[in-house]
Amino acid sequence: MLKTRHDTTDKVSVTINGQKVEVPARISVAAAVLSVRDGATRTTPVSGDGRAPYCMMGVCFDCLMDIDGVPNRQACMVTVANGMVINPQEGASRLGDGT
Ligand code: FES
Repeated sequence: MLKTRHDTTDKVSVTINGQKVEVPARISVAAAVLSVRDGATRTTPVSGDGRAPYCMMGVCFDCLMDIDGVPNRQACMVTVANGMVINPQEGASRLGDGT
């Protein structure tokens, strides 16, 4: 489904929704999530419907995730790093207190 434009021999280990996986280094968190699960990154605060990355360039905000304990991160704008913990964002997160 997804094809990278650079060498993918380098890997990093990340945990996505509790599942430890190896993904190509230097890809975005959104690309990593799309490559290993159904692509859902968050649920909406109002209806609870699932959302997935759409624009992959920081415009739509459909890729908000909790990354290393920090909510409201745009997964398409963050590069994966070894040991990173990535979780979907369920509904709205409050600002400033990390929940
Ligand atoms: S996919 Fe649109 S802002 Fe990340």
